[in-house]
Amino acid sequence: NAMFSWQRTAFHFQPEHNWMNDPDGPLFYKGWYHLFYQYNPDSAVWGNITWGHAVSTDMIHWLYLPLAMVPDRWYDANGVWTGSATILPNGEIMILYTGSTNDSVQVQNLAYPANLSDPLLLDWIKYEGNPVLTPPSGIGSTDFRDPTTAWIGPDGKWRITIGSKINTTGISMVYTTTDFINYELHDGVLHEVPGTGMWECVDFYPVSINGTKGVETSVNDGVKHVLKASLDDTKLDHYAIGTYFIENETWVPDDPTIDVGIGLRYDYGRYYASKTFYDQNKERRILWGWINETDTATDDLEKGWSSLQTIPRTVLFDSKTGTNLLQWPVEEIEDLRLNSTEFTDVLVEAGTTVPLDIGTATQLDILVDFEIELLGTEESVNGSSGCGDGAADRSTFGPFGILALADETLSEFTPVYFRVTNSTDGDVTTYFCADELRSSRAPEVFKQVYGGEVPVLDGETYSARVLVDHSIVESYAQGGRTVISSRVYPTEAIYGAARLFLFNNATGVNVKATLKIWQLNSAFIHPFPLDQI
Ligand code: FRU
Repeated sequence: NAMFSWQRTAFHFQPEHNWMNDPDGPLFYKGWYHLFYQYNPDSAVWGNITWGHAVSTDMIHWLYLPLAMVPDRWYDANGVWTGSATILPNGEIMILYTGSTNDSVQVQNLAYPANLSDPLLLDWIKYEGNPVLTPPSGIGSTDFRDPTTAWIGPDGKWRITIGSKINTTGISMVYTTTDFINYELHDGVLHEVPGTGMWECVDFYPVSINGTKGVETSVNDGVKHVLKASLDDTKLDHYAIGTYFIENETWVPDDPTIDVGIGLRYDYGRYYASKTFYDQNKERRILWGWINETDTATDDLEKGWSSLQTIPRTVLFDSKTGTNLLQWPVEEIEDLRLNSTEFTDVLVEAGTTVPLDIGTATQLDILVDFEIELLGTEESVNGSSGCGDGAADRSTFGPFGILALADETLSEFTPVYFRVTNSTDGDVTTYFCADELRSSRAPEVFKQVYGGEVPVLDGETYSARVLVDHSIVESYAQGGRTVISSRVYPTEAIYGAARLFLFNNATGVNVKATLKIWQLNSAFIHPFPLDQI
């Protein structure tokens, strides 16, 4: 539908048509990155869930392939739901996925490639003895889904974890197996957090303590372990960093006050059902996440598609803070960079905006650094935490940042900004925020102010990287300590009319901004040439 064509993105992964949700079973195999995804081949709303499939050599330029798995058995008749891949040391690939049965019971099924010599992994065989796991006693038949990638212990047994809930306590159970067919449920859970509800799409993986490279899922030396749950009740992806004790199959958070579901989030914007995989090609761990729509289902049906995936991100432990992960767009996205413009020490006085003359601004990669200059000997205290009521909410130290997807007259714009707060006892806390309130003049669009705390260490400037892609503003603060994906639907700030501004809404500081901004090429995502399959 041409009416909505400007909302299509140019370098984020999205199907040609119809509905997509969770990323599934990402892996690298024989030169190709594979992305599977929850996909409705028939409509732009959720239902009839299959595994869509695409491949890429760089995780940016994707080629759509035929569906990998469809709901054609009693044990997945109501949907081929989310699952994960494990590459065994002998080169075999095991996929475990949740099937919603003909009676809507959630079971786990095994699938494997029909032909391991096919780099495209086009055909999948569902194991004849499926399902391999049914809900254990005490677990609700619709609270048992989304098995992880397996990791192997020193005893030679594989482990997987599967999220669930008991009453309102979110839990993750551990199973061991040697053949991916027969499983034993471990007594006790990997972890549980009261009040967090159903844990969907649990992810569990090691991160190297020195924070330089990604590590394979079974590594348990020199690492901390990340546990992530997608909370069904709030539709938010929460992670925590801790220690995995393989001897009793438990994981303990470093800081119980920021446990899974109550502390850190991967992304403070529109983001859910994420999953990592270890990329043995480049020794890194890659995180995928689903960005869903914030317009109406009616609009989605009219435009004929719904949802995108984030830019794949590398994930590392932040050895400087010791308390969070660092996420960063895969380096391959830099191959899309075209011409760039640099700005040095642009003064943005308190209460002003400054246009940046870069031409059109719908496909950008922006690096920006802000320094602040106190105007007086300000003793003012701004104790209110968080992102306030958005970018219009003025205080001594901010907010300051950029206005992305803005039109010339500033009738539409999406501010991405820092908000520095202090308390009477002198503690300074910085928040990284995005404000969608004025992002679109379209009436029936859900708009919110998003954000989270971001650690800013002594001597650091306020730095951000922002990827703009027509209707997505994906923003990374302080090297990826805090990330926000905004899903916005400008009606004026589109194509050649889109602009970029700096803004400073502080009352007590001027800011100086230094930027490097690239125009980004499109990724031209399209079907794999059929005659070559
Ligand atoms: C998360 C989720 C999963 C489930 C899948 C179904 O978005 O609800 O728990 O497997 O989507 O499409």
